[in-house]
Amino acid sequence: MESPQSVKQRFEIIGNDPSLNRAIEKSIRVAPTDISVLVTGESGVGKESLPKIIHALSHRKHAKYIAVNCGAIPEGTIDSELFGHEKGAFTGANQARDGYFKEADGGTIFLDEVGELPLTTQVRLLRVLETGEFIKVGSSKVQKSNVRIVAATNVNMIEAIKKNKFREDLYYRLNTVEINLSPLRERRSDIHLLFRKFASDFALKYKMPTVRLTERAVKVLESCSWPGNIRQLKNVTEQISVLEKEREVDEATLHHYLPKNSSNLPSVISEDKSSKGDFSNEREILYKVLFDMKNDLNDLKKLTLELMEKENDETFKEENLSLIKKVYGDSDTERDFSEESHQEQLEILQLPNQNKVRDMETAVDDPYDYAEDIEEEETLSLQDKEVELIKKSLERHQGKRKPAADELGISERTLYRKIKQYDL
Ligand SMILES: Nc1ncnc2c1ncn2[C@@H]1O[C@H](COP(=O)(O)OP(=O)(O)OP(=O)(O)O)[C@@H](O)[C@H]1O
Ligand SMILES: [Mg+2]
Repeated sequence: MESPQSVKQRFEIIGNDPSLNRAIEKSIRVAPTDISVLVTGESGVGKESLPKIIHALSHRKHAKYIAVNCGAIPEGTIDSELFGHEKGAFTGANQARDGYFKEADGGTIFLDEVGELPLTTQVRLLRVLETGEFIKVGSSKVQKSNVRIVAATNVNMIEAIKKNKFREDLYYRLNTVEINLSPLRERRSDIHLLFRKFASDFALKYKMPTVRLTERAVKVLESCSWPGNIRQLKNVTEQISVLEKEREVDEATLHHYLPKNSSNLPSVISEDKSSKGDFSNEREILYKVLFDMKNDLNDLKKLTLELMEKENDETFKEENLSLIKKVYGDSDTERDFSEESHQEQLEILQLPNQNKVRDMETAVDDPYDYAEDIEEEETLSLQDKEVELIKKSLERHQGKRKPAADELGISERTLYRKIKQYDL
């Protein structure tokens, strides 16, 4: 019997998660039998490889393997596709045609998205599964076929049965053995492995060096909820491979490629692997707040830089002393600012106090750790102060942006953006 490892190699399946190994072992074990198999799992988890494995490791391997996407064939033609039709069976049936059950006689048919089969087709399918008999559309002659069925679905079949969309008897007939592939968020240790494989594949395809992730970016990648599973990870890797000039990608860059909606926001890495990846809303919100804060922080840094660049300009310094006091509080500026040595001025300018800035930077690097012990008032007050400062400056200049921007030491464009951002 072939080992899971060699099967993975042969079918280019990446991953070492126990749940993936179990699914592959199950496929290997069930392959030599004629048992019907139902492969279940969310969209994009890799269901399509398992029927191929089952066929290739079965005694049917020299006969045909036909994959049918039941969801993609119009309801009116699916019976004819599967079972064939006689000439004149319906308008446009100019000649007789054999269906897949005839073509794959002795082989395997993979019915992908089997939950999409119309009820009338389900009746025909149940018959062929139970007796090996089927009838072409427009015919009365019973034909025989020996086909092994492997089906796959990403829908909840029990729900479909409850809603009378799927026949219960057919479900049990298809589901003699169920092989489930777990979602990517439940096999996080495989995420980076998959990324590296896809990155190297795309590097080859697009003839460019392989993209790599920084350690922190790997953490972000691993903590995503990946609702589109491996397909989504593959797409993201392709986009990064093609669009990024730098071959080393950090977490900030990576975030541009992760969909913004909440279901795709990185979730917390759960210690409990069995948890279904649900994460608290509060943390998601905090995460967003922290990222907004990073933007604010960058703006503040720019402001500081501009101030520092102008530090030789005495009038500017004097004019802005009050501003600095307002932004960074009185305690730091109680000393006579104008008399500070150059080094001391720099220290004061790297306020509000350096620790706070450093804390915030670490927070953005690792929001969840930070979220645990964040002191909300402290961080919010930074933004509050900025808003207050802008408001006051605008008031002083009767709403004229140019002098206000000059006073604040930022460009008019930045001020305009902030007015919009804070809805002033
Ligand atoms: N373990 C894996 N290693 C490498 N590539 C994988 C793996 N699992 C899935 N893929 C790739 O991810 C993509 C999606 O997989 P697949 O088409 O099998 O998903 P699916 O489960 O059939 O999804 P759907 O229900 O939407 O049809 C494919 O390109 C497949 O090659
Ligand atoms: Mg599929």
